[in-house]
Amino acid sequence: MQEQISSLKEDIATRITQAASLTALEDIRVSTLGKKGSVSQLMKSLGGMSPDERKAIGPALNTLKNEVANELAARKETLEDVELNARLTAERIDVSLPVADHANGSVHPISQVMDEIAEIFASLGFDVAEGPDLESDFHNFTALNIPEEHPARQDHDTFYLQPDADGNRKVLRTHTSPVQIRTMISKEPPIRIIAPGRTYRSDSDATHTPMFHQVEGLVIDRDTHLGHLKGTLEAFLKAFFEVDAVTLRLRPSYFPFTEPSMEVDVQCSFEGGTVKIGDGNDWLEIFGSGMVNTKVLEACDLDPTIYQGFAFGGGIDRLAMLKYGMSDLRAFFDADLRWLRHYGFAALDLPTLAGGLSR
Ligand code: DAH
Repeated sequence: MQEQISSLKEDIATRITQAASLTALEDIRVSTLGKKGSVSQLMKSLGGMSPDERKAIGPALNTLKNEVANELAARKETLEDVELNARLTAERIDVSLPVADHANGSVHPISQVMDEIAEIFASLGFDVAEGPDLESDFHNFTALNIPEEHPARQDHDTFYLQPDADGNRKVLRTHTSPVQIRTMISKEPPIRIIAPGRTYRSDSDATHTPMFHQVEGLVIDRDTHLGHLKGTLEAFLKAFFEVDAVTLRLRPSYFPFTEPSMEVDVQCSFEGGTVKIGDGNDWLEIFGSGMVNTKVLEACDLDPTIYQGFAFGGGIDRLAMLKYGMSDLRAFFDADLRWLRHYGFAALDLPTLAGGLSR
């Protein structure tokens, strides 16, 4: 019996060292330590032995069982290492290799314009903030001083979701202004952010699509004033339209979340069928803006006797159309490859102020 045990031991040890994969190793485990495995069968035979035999053979069998288990575990570890290394080698990506087929894709003009906007505002010290497309009524309306009965709610053609168990209805955000609220609630001033993103209203024609894009801006500090707003928007529009000078007109207006509120127009000309920003006899409305309403500051737990600031917001799609000469808003969302190839931007050409925003 002792001999049988030691030859079995040798045999199993050889098979384990020769096992070339984890599946092969698992087969060996089943055929030795498994219910009907060779080692288990021997263990079972102990039952039919005399007490003396059992005393002699039992410990030897136990040792065999433990040794086999240890050898299996050690080999398993080695094989796992080998498999992992093989995977790591196979999945290696040489990031220094030039991209072979980048010519097949292009950056959508909206993404390009968002990158351009972020680049310009980053140079002015702004961070990019984000919020969810599915907003709470509180962030999209109430905290922005648009309570339940406010007429501005009707103007927004809001897409509402089914109410949840507590009766709260989420909305597809109708503007990027809720990101102002999220930022003021979560950050201490000084705050300098822009928030580009998707917005939704139930509206559709040549100049409106149910999903569109806006960019919001917010600056909160102790002594931020309207002069800062005007200077910021001038700097932005000059850089964005790549012109040496722009003339702005601030027109009194009304928004619930700003007081005073104004519409920002930029001087332009429509001569020759194209828009030229910078001079001319016409005005283009670009942004809504104003000084953040004290009620909005209070809704975000900011003390209006300490903090004040400005906000602005406007359509990105329109900025893109003006800059790149597109006439129908709906083309942005048609996914027509010919249009995308014509207006799209090289994927690896990131807009930078130093290298040129649009090339
Ligand atoms: N949220 C406004 C809209 O969608 C735009 C706007 C106006 C944003 C004035 C602002 C602001 O931040 O101060 O029509």
